[in-house]
Amino acid sequence: MERRVISGSIDTVFEFDYSVQAEDMRGLYEKAKRDQWNASRDIQWTAPATDDGRVLSDELIDIYGSPIWERLSERERVDLNRRIAAWRLSVLVYGEQGAMLACSQMVDIVTGTDQKFFQATQVADEARHNEVLERYLETRLDGLHYPMPENERVLFDSILTDRRWYVKTIALQLVAETFAVSMFKMMGEAAADPVLKEICRRILQDESRHMGFGMLALPSVVKEASAAERQEMEDYTCMALEKVLTGFFPLEAYQDAGFSKAQIGEVRRHRREVAAHNDYAVYRKYFRRDMHAAMVNNLARIGLLTERVRPRLAALGVELPTAA
Ligand SMILES: [Fe+2]
Ligand SMILES: [Fe+2]
Repeated sequence: MERRVISGSIDTVFEFDYSVQAEDMRGLYEKAKRDQWNASRDIQWTAPATDDGRVLSDELIDIYGSPIWERLSERERVDLNRRIAAWRLSVLVYGEQGAMLACSQMVDIVTGTDQKFFQATQVADEARHNEVLERYLETRLDGLHYPMPENERVLFDSILTDRRWYVKTIALQLVAETFAVSMFKMMGEAAADPVLKEICRRILQDESRHMGFGMLALPSVVKEASAAERQEMEDYTCMALEKVLTGFFPLEAYQDAGFSKAQIGEVRRHRREVAAHNDYAVYRKYFRRDMHAAMVNNLARIGLLTERVRPRLAALGVELPTAA
């Protein structure tokens, strides 16, 4: 089986004081213990599939409603629906594996017992997400898998090789997980298969806790940073955002569904046109609005929505409220 070895070195901080130092962080750890769930016990794997085999609402497919879509037969639409779902879930499976590895490094690097305890729970959460999504692909989507997109690989290589916990946290708990929360919300709402809906609901509960770690841990680091350090954090945020927001075209899913080169060109053109006119189908429109609002809000809370960052967000198509 293919695997990837990423070389690096990190510092392990061994704590001796196990008393509560950061009450809100310890509270998040308590919630994590209370809300553990088990993919083997809590998901109804034997529930019947949908009558037509669809996994998601067709509205989540980029070409939904376009002339290309109109030309497809019902059988082709169902096939594309399943392949696009498998493509997106594959991206998420790799993301969960990367998150698990990054958090296991963070258990070592972060200082403070409360922070270490919380990160230990996130390692277990991400393992469960990796497990449950993989099981979904295996049991409900005929074991369909698609390769890890380049942008996702580059982002995780950078997260996993940087020695500093706050750099990992900016990319993972702030940028990637803010995105993931909106993504799982949308997929949960648009899921045709009730098993997928339930999985998204459960993952979502965990993800908002993970985002909470960033919200608690990052503001003081940003506040105490020197000008140069702050600039580096801003640049890293923008790099992570760019990787998360661009370069996710499910090419292999269209290829496997039998689309020719010319047809894939047509799909790409349609996607560009929709983006230019902000003309998304309902779920996607809601997702963008929700994700942009959450991202802007979280960056502002952490102190990273600066005048250097704003134009770069705008260039990525993120809608910004006018500066106060
Ligand atoms: Fe996760
Ligand atoms: Fe997470």
